Amino acid sequence: MDSLDNASTSVASGDTWNVRGDSFGLAATTYEQSRPSYPSDAVRWLLGDRGLTVVELGAGTGLLTRALIAAGHTVTAVEPDDSMRAQMTETTPQAEILAGGAESIPVDDASADAVVVGHAYHWFDPEPAHAEIARVIRPGGTFGTFWNLRDEDVPWSAELTKILADEDTGTGAEGSSAIMLHGALDVLRGRREGAEWLMSPTFGDRFTAIERNFFPNEVEHTPKSLLELIRSRSYYLTSDNAKKEEIDRQVRELTSSHPELRGRETFKLRYVTVAFRSQARERP
Ligand SMILES: C[S@@+](CC[C@H](N)C(=O)[O-])C[C@H]1O[C@@H](n2cnc3c(N)ncnc32)[C@H](O)[C@@H]1O
Repeated sequence: MDSLDNASTSVASGDTWNVRGDSFGLAATTYEQSRPSYPSDAVRWLLGDRGLTVVELGAGTGLLTRALIAAGHTVTAVEPDDSMRAQMTETTPQAEILAGGAESIPVDDASADAVVVGHAYHWFDPEPAHAEIARVIRPGGTFGTFWNLRDEDVPWSAELTKILADEDTGTGAEGSSAIMLHGALDVLRGRREGAEWLMSPTFGDRFTAIERNFFPNEVEHTPKSLLELIRSRSYYLTSDNAKKEEIDRQVRELTSSHPELRGRETFKLRYVTVAFRSQARERP
């Protein structure tokens, strides 16, 4: 038993998408320590070089918030989960931190140069979220989202994906959750068709057509921190204890036996940071 076993509390027997979206606070500390940040050139591509007033939605423990602040932006971080916000208060005191969700954003009309989201847009209810985001961005301002996707071209990372094979439950090819499908990077890289929303992504008619870009990213892990990373995922957090034990066993086996990992104290987990950007249209 290690200390992380205390986080293995099941929240629901029905593994619904909404339950998964609400589950992150169960492992806020683990989340902060094991999840990837966002590359500075991705932040620059989205927001440019001038310091902006930015509202970040689904800010979690502040991983993207800190990258935005380091790039010179003034950030209001909005997050619905109490435990994630508590963690962010510790790690990211430079941000204004507010309780709220994308569907009801606690900031004034046209008060932001940009609204930014890191690895959370797929949890939003798109219609009300788009209306709210358009309300708070000044016309012509930027709306952008990032996702950090594991690069499954790395053989051991592809093996990790097989362990998490059931994780796609609740995702759908037609909506933004498609980005969480295993193989989403292959679709984005143009290697295969499928995942409707990824083939022609949209933020609705209040926004201009989406441009996208890709940035390499990586995190150094130990066998223990890789297990922590898997334990911070919504799929894991909402699985029953038998499933959690089985995932733990398989991840431990992967790090102790895969030729690229066996005997290594540290190794790099490669990601691709996928960035989508768009502008808020002038209001009629
Ligand atoms: C995978 S975490 C991403 C956190 C952080 N942005 C990052 O990049 O590490 C997803 C976050 O979205 C939040 N979330 C879920 N549903 C949301 C909603 N409807 N509006 C805003 N945030 C939401 C969760 O509480 C969680 O903190």
